[in-house]
Amino acid sequence: MTQAISRPAPTMAEKIEAIDALCARARIMPVITIAREEDILPLADALDAGGLQVLEITLRSPHGLTAIRRLREERPHLCVGAGTVLDRHMLEAVEEAGAQFIVSPGSTDELLRAALQSPVPMLPGVASASEIMVGYALGYRRFKLFPAEVCGGTAALKALGGPFGDIRFCPTGGVGPANLQRYMALPNVMCVGGSWMLDSSKGWDAVRQASADALALLG
Ligand code: 3PG
Repeated sequence: MTQAISRPAPTMAEKIEAIDALCARARIMPVITIAREEDILPLADALDAGGLQVLEITLRSPHGLTAIRRLREERPHLCVGAGTVLDRHMLEAVEEAGAQFIVSPGSTDELLRAALQSPVPMLPGVASASEIMVGYALGYRRFKLFPAEVCGGTAALKALGGPFGDIRFCPTGGVGPANLQRYMALPNVMCVGGSWMLDSSKGWDAVRQASADALALLG
C-alpha cells in the first residue's frame, strides 16, 4: 500500500520569499482574461516573446481554469497564477488547476484564512489601511493594491509606506505606460500589473511589442 506523503503548508515567510521572487522576475504582470480558448497559447507566447513570463490568469471568463491548466502543462517555463479568486471554492479550484500564485481583488476573512492553509502563496487585494491591517494580523505582508489609480495611486503608496514599512505592493488598476515608471520607482512597489498590453486587435505581434515596450520603460 502506498502512503500519501503529506507536506506541511509552506510558512508565511516561505510564501513571502516566493512572492518576492516571482514579482522580481515579473516586474510587469499581465492581468489576463481569456476571451476564447484558442487564444490561450498564442497570447501567452506573445507575452513571453515580449519578455513577460509571469502571468495572472483571471477567473473572469469560463476559460480561466483551462488556461491555467494548459499553460502549466504546455508552457512549463512560464509562471502562471490565478486572478479574481473571490472565495475558498475558487481558491481550491485554482490550486487543483496548478496555479503557482493566487491574486484576489479584495480581502475577506474566509479567503485570507483559507489561503493561510494553502501551499500556494496569495497576494490579497487591499484598497485601504484597514484592509491591510486585517491581512497584517494574519501574517500577510505582500498585497495587491486595487484599483490602484482610483484609490490614490503613487500618493497613496507613499502615504501607506509610513505606517506599513514592511509591506510591499503590486498595484493594478489604471496602471500603464504613462505611469508605470512612477510606480516602480517607489520602494514599497515590487511589481505592477495591468491589461494594457493585451489588445490583440492588431494581432499577436502587437501584444509582443506592447510588452517589450513596457519593459523597456523600466530599463
Ligand atoms: C485587474 O485586476 O482588473 C487589473 O488591475 C487590470 O486593471 P487594468 O485593466 O486597469 O490594467
